[in-house]
Amino acid sequence: MTTQSKSSLLADHVDMRPVAVDTDETAPDRNTMVRLNPDHPGFRDRAYRDRRNRIAQIALGYRTGETIPDAPYTPLEHHVWRTIWKALVPAQQAHACADYLKAVERLELDSDRIPQLREVSEKVRVISGFRLEPVAGLVEPRVFLESLANGVFLCTQYIRHHSTPLYTPEPDVVHEIVGHGVTLACGHLAELNRLFGKAVQRTSSAEALDRLSRVYWFTIEFGVLREAGKLKAYGTGLLSSAGELEAMHKAELRELDLEAVSGHEYDPTHYQPVLFCAPSFEGMFQTLREFLVRW
Ligand SMILES: [Fe+2]
Repeated sequence: MTTQSKSSLLADHVDMRPVAVDTDETAPDRNTMVRLNPDHPGFRDRAYRDRRNRIAQIALGYRTGETIPDAPYTPLEHHVWRTIWKALVPAQQAHACADYLKAVERLELDSDRIPQLREVSEKVRVISGFRLEPVAGLVEPRVFLESLANGVFLCTQYIRHHSTPLYTPEPDVVHEIVGHGVTLACGHLAELNRLFGKAVQRTSSAEALDRLSRVYWFTIEFGVLREAGKLKAYGTGLLSSAGELEAMHKAELRELDLEAVSGHEYDPTHYQPVLFCAPSFEGMFQTLREFLVRW
């Protein structure tokens, strides 16, 4: 049996680099589910890899509707959260759109320790009806996007390795909570996520799914807009990274033409050289809403 067929290589909504979750029950060590690439910052850290496996097991054992079990974060990992938070607060104050800043206040996230998905999911559910569910690693775009139609956001639960607090090669709990969790606590953005899910349910061809995924990428993940003449972020990939928030000002800005967006290729491994800018939050919402309803 080849390595490829022994595991399900999961591709993500953020980052297409593979993280393997080995579900082969005959594998010699069934605790080794998460396989990291040799260039992953945590590759040589046995304790980190063990924890990643334990967290993956939580997700693999999770059934919809159950309370999400708490992840076993260490003091060092809570310190990573604090470090990120310290860099993010001023960056968000300067570069996040007003609707995001209101939503972040509404969620009252703890800046001292990594919030558990269980707590964030409950707060988001009360506000927009969306709930978070844990996944072991990266999921197929169709699975991820279709779940949005049912008000479910599939979340990773691990945090990046402590040696690189401001960098992660894969989406982690910081991106999920600070990016998606917060935006799902904003009514308009939650509605757009739901409409994406419904549009994907009506999509059968792989080519059309690719086009929709690109629209998701350049809006929900990397969307920017103008607010009182200033460039602001509403995309989760930007809002969850101080580096991305600074770098977005160097991107080439194009008008938010969703036909053009759907055909625009991207590379998830670098800062985005091209971003699509809406004239306002309301303009972004109406344009995207109409596009998704018509799809
Ligand atoms: Fe994301």
